[in-house]
Amino acid sequence: MEAFAIARVQLSFASITATPTGPERFATAFYTALWSETSGTRELFPAGMENMRHRFTTAVGWAVDKLTDVDGLDAFLGQLARDHRKYGVRPEHFRAAGYALLVAVRDCTPLILWTAALERTWAEVISHFTETMAVAAAEDDLPAAWGATVVGHERVLADLAIIRLETDTPIPYHAGQYMSVQIPQRPQMWRYLSAAIPRTPGADRIPRPTRLDGMGQRRSRQRGRGR
Ligand code: HEM
Repeated sequence: MEAFAIARVQLSFASITATPTGPERFATAFYTALWSETSGTRELFPAGMENMRHRFTTAVGWAVDKLTDVDGLDAFLGQLARDHRKYGVRPEHFRAAGYALLVAVRDCTPLILWTAALERTWAEVISHFTETMAVAAAEDDLPAAWGATVVGHERVLADLAIIRLETDTPIPYHAGQYMSVQIPQRPQMWRYLSAAIPRTPGADRIPRPTRLDGMGQRRSRQRGRGR
């Protein structure tokens, strides 16, 4: 894509995020269009989406900034898409999301900047985003999530507990990495916890804040995914 076309897209996205309410408006426009056009997608999200909107707009902004570095852009989009598999997002959802993204940029870009040329360039950019994500998600050969059972819970500080998990299969994971964890009692609520060195093969210890207490009951199932 020509440098001029990239600059045009970057400028129009900057005009969306420049106002205090812009990022939130953009994300809201995206989710509204996605949920109304692609059935079954609303159920994948938790009820409360407050922090999510900013994270979504930040991610799109990051991708737009990376348009001049296609390798970096594709690596970012690929990782984001693979991480989405644990939410139940399928490759076809990314393709369907292209329409919602175009609606969101069109609705949120000031009218004076929106031209037929800008719309064509955005369509090309969005199609690159969504196709790269769809392919990365389809080609990932790791499980979308791993199952585990809570076999121990030890409160070590007032605000810290160590949970011992026995995973169903080994998780390709290194101590110090974070992993997102969901429990059946709180579906669609993913928390980032930090894993310690396994004491025995197939077992992981996760220090976590005790405000999660009560969510991980003994023998309850856990799902985790980390990279
Ligand atoms: C098209 C481009 C997309 C971008 C840039 C994007 C970006 C993001 C980001 C940055 C997060 C937060 C991840 C985190 O903090 O760990 C997220 C979460 C999520 N995304 Fe996407 N996403 C896209 C498409 C989709 C689609 C098509 C779906 C479903 C049909 C989807 C479903 C979800 C769900 C369910 C979450 C978790 C929400 C939560 O836990 O609060 N995303 N997305």
